[in-house]
Amino acid sequence: METIKVNFENGIEMNRIEQGAEIIKRGGVIAFPTETVYGLGADALNKDAVRKIFEAKGRPQDNPLIIHVADRDISAFAAEVPEKAQAMMDKFWPGPLTLILKKTDIVPLETSAGLDTVGIRMPSNETARLLIKASGCPVAAPSANISGKPSPTNFKRCVEDLDGRVDMIIGDGSSIVGLESTIVDYSVHPPRLLRPGYITYEDLLVMDPEVVYDEAKTRADEKEIPKAPGMKYRHYAPKAPLTIISGDVEKAGKEILKRTEKYRSEGKVVGILAPKERETMYNRENIRFISLGSEKNSSEIARNLFEGLRMFDDLNVDVILAEGFSETGVGIAIMNRLKKASGFNIVEV
Ligand code: TXA
Ligand code: MG
Repeated sequence: METIKVNFENGIEMNRIEQGAEIIKRGGVIAFPTETVYGLGADALNKDAVRKIFEAKGRPQDNPLIIHVADRDISAFAAEVPEKAQAMMDKFWPGPLTLILKKTDIVPLETSAGLDTVGIRMPSNETARLLIKASGCPVAAPSANISGKPSPTNFKRCVEDLDGRVDMIIGDGSSIVGLESTIVDYSVHPPRLLRPGYITYEDLLVMDPEVVYDEAKTRADEKEIPKAPGMKYRHYAPKAPLTIISGDVEKAGKEILKRTEKYRSEGKVVGILAPKERETMYNRENIRFISLGSEKNSSEIARNLFEGLRMFDDLNVDVILAEGFSETGVGIAIMNRLKKASGFNIVEV
């Protein structure tokens, strides 16, 4: 398949948005930017189009898609909108929040992967909203990575994963949030936080104190079926095995250097992922150090996380050691992704 590739380097080109919308209307698939991560979109109401998303990504069929809207009136897709869910939409849309609601019949079971609920979100990224509006339909879109890889946060990574597999790839710079949307399930009571994100649990509790979050339920090794089906697969994984060294910063640093020495004696190339404050400490021969930004700025760490993980693939490291981040605020979402990237391979020091 010939993929049309367009990167908006000098602002949005409306003729290209129209071209993308035509492709969506005709049942094609397009990678496009959002503020969280890049999405791989198709007409959410066209089951053949939706099937192409699963094919292009190599995604398991039992993992439902989020539909993206450009209009606040979601009554065509959501059968019930509880009052608190409406308040969440009013507060956080457009933005990185997805709500799970009971679906109407026009949302095909291909989109919801057989569930009677659907995830809905209104992105704040302008390219995304113009594209959805011009398409005239809700756009189903998972993250635009090949299943299992870290989500792409820029044009280049989408091209790497999807060139030749989709009809068009549109880019407009790096995603400003860098982590997928926060997901809250309002089809159940009490409502559940299913995936932590940039909009934090604390942010949600201010709006609705009833929201519950049970981190264990999002674990990859849960025997019970996780509430968000996507949470059970190995995710966000760079090619090299990744170990998180968590705990006191000084002890973690010593442990990382100790392990590095051992790996190097085995002839392995070691990648280290840590905040930039530790740059001089890990500035040694044979270490591929990637900084995600300052540990004082969790938004910056979040924005750089997936790109950092992907850079280790380019550097051909054999093993990766990552410092754990503090699990407060956005840090909860950062560690949620990092733990999955490691396959829950965490060492406490
Ligand atoms: O920020 C985002 O949400 C990005 C951008 C592109 O919008 N999209 C994204 O989609 O992360 P995806 O497919 O990679 O992740 C969606 C997650 C999966 O874990 C899926 O299982 C869950 O949402 N999900 C979708 N619909 C659901 C439903 N009806 N009930 C429970 N979980 C659902
Ligand atoms: Mg994904």
